[in-house]
Amino acid sequence: MNKSSIQCFLFILLTIIVTIIPRSNAQGEVEDETEFSYERNHETGPEKWGKLKPEWHMCGKGDMQSPIDLRNRRVRIVSHLGRLTRNYKPSNATLRNRGHDMMVRFEEGSSIIEINNVEYQLGQLHWHSPSEHTIDGKKFALELHMVHQSSNGSLAVITVLYNIGRADPFLRMLEKKLSETTDPNEERNIGMIDPRDIKFGRNKYYRYIGSLTIPPCTQNVIWTIVKEVKTVSRDQVKLLRVAVHDHSNTNARPVQATNMRVVKFNRPKYS
Ligand SMILES: *[C@@H]1O[C@H](CO)[C@@H](O)[C@H](O)[C@H]1NC(C)=O
Ligand SMILES: *[C@@H]1O[C@H](CO)[C@@H](O)[C@H](O)[C@H]1NC(C)=O
Repeated sequence: MNKSSIQCFLFILLTIIVTIIPRSNAQGEVEDETEFSYERNHETGPEKWGKLKPEWHMCGKGDMQSPIDLRNRRVRIVSHLGRLTRNYKPSNATLRNRGHDMMVRFEEGSSIIEINNVEYQLGQLHWHSPSEHTIDGKKFALELHMVHQSSNGSLAVITVLYNIGRADPFLRMLEKKLSETTDPNEERNIGMIDPRDIKFGRNKYYRYIGSLTIPPCTQNVIWTIVKEVKTVSRDQVKLLRVAVHDHSNTNARPVQATNMRVVKFNRPKYS
């Protein structure tokens, strides 16, 4: 091979690598978040996400988008959804700095949540601050998203909300790793992580059908927002923000129109 054909070959190889890697699975969400921002009225801000790429068009056009405001006056109270059934196990995990958030990715297969007799595997979790969902218009300090995927690719997110207060034990365990993983798109192994260390109430929760809250804003995501609000320290919220150093003080998408959607609130009958 002569020099120019080697260059050509390397160029093609690089193109393949660059196009394939960002698609590697983060449960349908983009992994390189540098192409969009959270700045209001900015050319890459939340109002413009749907126009930035053809495959992100749902962010602008979808009528089942997330997050939304959960209005207690308008929820439909039910008891038939039952206690959340989770079967989580410790799993080898990595921590990735996605540019706007920090993501813990789990090895496949170990942790399962069951909704309507369908099993969804826990693939990754990440945090938004302040919260993306609001309850009666109230924002919380932090929101955890645990993103699960079924064997046919459908998505279910379990969400925990946090007020400022006592430190969160799960985040405490990750603090050192979070402060070390500061380069955009850096990903490092963090060993065995037990998602059962994330405690959340499993009887009372909101349920509705929405979308991913970052591009490509894929719809038909089953959302479960746990009613019990946990606490996190101010320093922990700050650590998550500083680690990504995207010069923004938020990574929360503004609330979207609820449109005709029904939000259910599940609570056991006799409590
Ligand atoms: C976890 O994954 C890393 C990187 O692939 C590997 O080096 C390590 O041995 C694994 N640990 C366990 C407990 O499987
Ligand atoms: C995947 O399975 C779920 C549950 O059985 C079903 O509701 C959904 O329509 C399926 N999705 C696709 C993309 O086939």
